[in-house]
Amino acid sequence: MRNVAICGSHVKNFISSPSFVTAIEMDGVPIFCGLIHTEDIKFDRHIPENRFKVLVRKIAFSYNYRDKNLIFTTAIKAALNRFYVVGSEFVGEVIDIGSDVTDFQIGDKVIGNNHYPNSGIEGVPGGLPSNNSSTEYQVFHQIKLIKVPPQIPDEVAATISIGGQTTYSMLRKLSLTEGSNVLVTSANSNTSLFAINALNKHKVNIYATTTSMRFEKELKEMGVKRLIQIEPNSENWVADELAEEIVKEKGSFDCIIDPFFDIHIGKLIPLLASGGRYITCGFYDQYSSLIGKEFQYRGLTTSEIFVTMMLKNIQIIGNCIGKTEDLQNAIQDYASGSLNVVIDSVFSGKQVGEFFERTYNAKDRFGKVVYRYD
Ligand SMILES: NC(=O)c1ccc[n+]([C@@H]2O[C@H](COP(=O)([O-])OP(=O)(O)OC[C@H]3O[C@@H](n4cnc5c(N)ncnc54)[C@H](OP(=O)(O)O)[C@@H]3O)[C@@H](O)[C@H]2O)c1
Repeated sequence: MRNVAICGSHVKNFISSPSFVTAIEMDGVPIFCGLIHTEDIKFDRHIPENRFKVLVRKIAFSYNYRDKNLIFTTAIKAALNRFYVVGSEFVGEVIDIGSDVTDFQIGDKVIGNNHYPNSGIEGVPGGLPSNNSSTEYQVFHQIKLIKVPPQIPDEVAATISIGGQTTYSMLRKLSLTEGSNVLVTSANSNTSLFAINALNKHKVNIYATTTSMRFEKELKEMGVKRLIQIEPNSENWVADELAEEIVKEKGSFDCIIDPFFDIHIGKLIPLLASGGRYITCGFYDQYSSLIGKEFQYRGLTTSEIFVTMMLKNIQIIGNCIGKTEDLQNAIQDYASGSLNVVIDSVFSGKQVGEFFERTYNAKDRFGKVVYRYD
């Protein structure tokens, strides 16, 4: 079976064709990535420990920001003759099922169900089914999978589980009302693209911040009323005149959706209206210590944030992934045409280096990048 993997620099010396390793660079760190063939896994449907298990053959997969930590950890810290299979979401086909599996049949198309915090089954953790999901064959407890209907194309199914489940959970927690002013940060991030697309159903006014205006036209076509450029590495952050103009134009925001709280919260929380809600699902500084590039926080102190929150009756809400129902709703909305999913590109075969380059290095990436086993 095939595995897309991050490899130590010596791995190329003991593999043979059709396995291969290729070199790229991410944030100045050399990364060896490759396609490594390993022995097929065996699945015995009759043994008791496989009663509720499902063998899945991956069709396609995609990576996320969170995977960068594992990529850099492997590249920098792992033994030079080892490889590590990465990946956090996939679409696959059910190849075999245990004797007591009730939810799936052979041939079903499935993706990961990241229901969090508890899976509902003792001994089976909640959250992502795997951090190694680009391996071609993998066994999962049935609770960690969800069926996707045939009208969902593979490249969409390979990208919807984390973005769909997380943003539908965030929008559920925000209890949005029609006409609210919602600010989404890091507009070009995959999470925010999902959020913006999902927000359209709620008939709210969508504003967004970004470090790059490259996709202003596309974002406006997706429903963003105004795109605001920020410069997170300058003290000014948002040009003074622009900040004044925005506040004059629209007062303050009812909700902020932020996938990188350490970049935005200290600057944006004062822009929330009284009784406003701020929700975050993540932070930027997930790997800077590994690559020796110190992250510098800019903005209000914790105490100032809490004073603002208290005086303005603001709710700060944390969100990690979501519930099964959130993912079901995202899948259903896509299937019925009310959710758009932005796909940047699809790679296959020898294009492992290209897949990593496009996922993590391409400044002009807009949407999810998929690798497909051909
Ligand atoms: N806890 C959960 O359940 C969960 C689930 C999903 C995602 N997340 C989190 O959500 C976040 C986004 O993940 P993702 O996979 O969607 O990310 P992504 O697509 O890799 O995000 C890339 C975007 O981040 C922004 N960005 C990158 N470097 C930046 C910098 N130095 N300064 C300012 N902005 C920068 C840029 O947006 P602009 O071009 O618009 O500036 C860039 O386009 C991560 O923190 C992730 O861990 C968490």
